[in-house]
Amino acid sequence: MARLSDTQTAFGAVTKLAHWLTALTVFGMIGLGLYMADLPLGAAKLELYGLHKSIGVVVLVVTLARFGWRSRQPGPGALPSHVAWEHLLAKATHLALYACLIGLPLTGWIASSAAGFPVSVFGLFTLPNLVGPDPSLQKGAAAIHSWMAWAMMGLIGLHILGALKHHVVDKDETLRRMAPHGAKSASPFL
Ligand code: HEM
Ligand code: HEM
Repeated sequence: MARLSDTQTAFGAVTKLAHWLTALTVFGMIGLGLYMADLPLGAAKLELYGLHKSIGVVVLVVTLARFGWRSRQPGPGALPSHVAWEHLLAKATHLALYACLIGLPLTGWIASSAAGFPVSVFGLFTLPNLVGPDPSLQKGAAAIHSWMAWAMMGLIGLHILGALKHHVVDKDETLRRMAPHGAKSASPFL
């Protein structure tokens, strides 16, 4: 049976599931965000905005839960074969990706609140407005949201290049140990 927790040498099923679900969702959210923003005002646009906001709130909750999970276990850490600059760059990229996973939903939530549109989550419940109606704050938050989404695309590109470099050039375990059925601990005790 798949191990749920991380160990010192491997990622567990919870970390892998959270990583790949988040990755797939974020790819979809970027596509949806760019598509919906260009639509003419109408029912389809409003419906897609609602969907985008609901899924974005789920990303925020999953990311916060991920922080809780990660704080209870150190994870496998960098492979000993990674040199210092690779380790630093990977850490900085992961941190910046986490900042986007929190910052995008928050700036979206602020923009919606400032526009006077409370955020409904799949029509099940409505989040409280973070700020009152404020057109200039709405503009600013939407601009930061858009800027952050483009920055995240660059970070994701860098992140994927790093993963592929380790897999194809270095031929190490970096990508395999995050893969759904990837590397398991070599130790029978972990
Ligand atoms: C939207 C897309 C993605 C996001 C937001 C994302 C985010 C992250 C974050 C935050 C971590 C650090 C986990 C931690 O140690 O706390 C991570 C690890 C990792 N990601 Fe992604 N990821 C994405 C897509 C991908 C893709 C497409 C690949 C493969 C091509 C990939 C491969 C990896 C690998 C191999 C690790 C483990 C790195 C290590 O061992 O230090 N990720 N990812
Ligand atoms: C990981 C989560 C999210 C990602 C990756 C994401 C991504 C995007 C992208 C790429 C755009 C298009 C930007 C542009 O046209 O330049 C966008 C627009 C937008 N997003 Fe998000 N978003 C996320 C979460 C949220 C959340 C949680 C909300 C609200 C609660 C939200 C509200 C909006 C709004 C209102 C717009 C349109 C802004 C405008 O019309 O200028 N987003 N988003």
